Amino acid sequence: MAPGLFIAFEGPEGGGKSLQVGLLAERLRSDGADVVATREPGGTKVGDEIRAVLLGLGDYAILPETEVLLLAAARAQHVREVITPALERGALVVCDRFVDSTFAYQGGGSGLDMSPLRTIQAFATGGLEPDIRFLLDLPVQVGLQRRHAEPASVNRIDLADNSFHQRVRDAYLNLVTAAPRQWVVIDADAAPDTVHETIWRELRRVRANPRYVVTE
Ligand code: TMP
Repeated sequence: MAPGLFIAFEGPEGGGKSLQVGLLAERLRSDGADVVATREPGGTKVGDEIRAVLLGLGDYAILPETEVLLLAAARAQHVREVITPALERGALVVCDRFVDSTFAYQGGGSGLDMSPLRTIQAFATGGLEPDIRFLLDLPVQVGLQRRHAEPASVNRIDLADNSFHQRVRDAYLNLVTAAPRQWVVIDADAAPDTVHETIWRELRRVRANPRYVVTE
């Protein structure tokens, strides 16, 4: 097993994941840690190209099956080019979204069957899983309002209807129920500093526990 630590941030829209990834990475670095902060889809040059196709507001439709395959392609590159080498040198990798986003959005939101999704994820990642998953959870209406308050950052998937986003949130909560020891659920409907302090405290607590690397 790689010596580093792989932390994934997950959640529905508007939970402030990107901000929290940045704050956590900065604090860990000022503590002297070797940190790689990255995101999905993206994190590599080809991944960023795929992100532009997936999330751009171009004049084309993308089927959920196509989304899964594009996301998996970006993920395969990301794991091998960025995440695994960083973990092998002992770095902390903080990733804004990973496989659970596919289970929540394309599985929960779009209703695709989970079984092929799992198979495709295993192929894309080579079996790599996060050591810790933070779910930044908040009510869908609150998250979408925050998101639409910054129109420049609205992407193609944000524009799906509210029931889609509700299914995404429900799917995340179901993933937590199915494997509670893999997750730390954070109330993201709070001020960013409060959310950051909670994440910091929880990360210290989890790392102090010799069983923090959970495989269920
Ligand atoms: P974000 O960077 O604002 O979180 O935007 C990424 C978008 O991509 C978000 O709407 C969720 C979506 N997404 C999926 O639908 N499935 C995935 O597997 C990933 C990584 C992202």
